[in-house]
Amino acid sequence: MKLKITILEGDGVGPEVTREAVRVLRTTAGLHGHQFTFTKQLIGGAAISEAGSPLPRTTLDACLASDAVLLGAVGAPRFDSLPPSARPEAGLLLLRRALGGYANLRPAISYDAIAAASPLRPEIARGANILIVRELLGGLYFGEPRGLTGDNGNSVAVNTMSYSVAEIERVARVAFVAALQRHKRVTSVDKANVLETSQLWRATVTRVAKDYPEVALDHLYVDACAMHLITNPRRFDVLLTENLFGDILSDEAAVITGSLGMLGSATIGGEVGLYEPVHGSAPDIAGRGIANPFGAIASAALLLRYSGGLEREADDLEEAIQFVLNAGYRTPDISADGFGHLATTSEIGELVAEALAEIADVRHAYHAV
Ligand code: IPM
Ligand code: MG
Repeated sequence: MKLKITILEGDGVGPEVTREAVRVLRTTAGLHGHQFTFTKQLIGGAAISEAGSPLPRTTLDACLASDAVLLGAVGAPRFDSLPPSARPEAGLLLLRRALGGYANLRPAISYDAIAAASPLRPEIARGANILIVRELLGGLYFGEPRGLTGDNGNSVAVNTMSYSVAEIERVARVAFVAALQRHKRVTSVDKANVLETSQLWRATVTRVAKDYPEVALDHLYVDACAMHLITNPRRFDVLLTENLFGDILSDEAAVITGSLGMLGSATIGGEVGLYEPVHGSAPDIAGRGIANPFGAIASAALLLRYSGGLEREADDLEEAIQFVLNAGYRTPDISADGFGHLATTSEIGELVAEALAEIADVRHAYHAV
């Protein structure tokens, strides 16, 4: 299998965690005889500084010409005072739209080995395994009209939440198909007691559900969902929601797992898949070798699965992540239990790569007998 992968390290901890994701992808290629090529391009604050734009044309062209894009993080404090369209984040939003992926999958898994790192009591967090399916190209992030008018004293700011049936239906189908491979439950999250967009959302999801009779559908208002996520996370299997609700609920779901640093994501449905950890650029800890690379590595596993169709390689990488956690290795954000060995960002990457090699060896030996 040949894959052309564009690497967008971005800002803050982006470069250091992405390096480890690339390391494990190279290891996977070596172990299984695949040819992956990696090309680095600029995005975010780094791109503004070097090329004057958060998404330079060369970056966009390279992404559109590749099989998959692996991104680190965007955002840097020195751009905080700029309007949204000039900030590092604008580069990511333009890229998402250009690549066309409308379904952002964010698995939030509570691993037994680090259950104690969650502020939730272990008996609540343990065993939670939620797939958040976040609509990524609609809602308040992209709705028009938008903008800020007037001067300081009497400014008015406007954002628009809008959803069409087609936009809701296509992401709903992704959620139902995903549920068929899991525990066959979809919880659709909206604010249908207040918002027309949510009423259309609920009606459309309910209709689409009829095409998937094996899947049980229920609905929650977003405020109630926020509460259920931390009081009873195991009630969820697939959680389907619109763009902004998904942004907020996925950070909350990360708390169940122990750290925002654990979550990877895949954006599918477009021409080119986009893979990025859910955590941000975390400028306060950048460059110190303490960033958690598991989210970036989990994103690499999703890249193997969704852009490469390499299910076995993706499974092996996810198993390698668990192996390293079970062996007790931790970055500081997941070491709250004081158990195990503190490891640097690159040590974690090396350990996952070693575990991959061992998993491949075991498979080999097994097939040899
Ligand atoms: C995320 C991030 C982004 C978002 C930011 C960086 C634009 O928070 O991927 O969750 O809001 O989508
Ligand atoms: Mg977010």
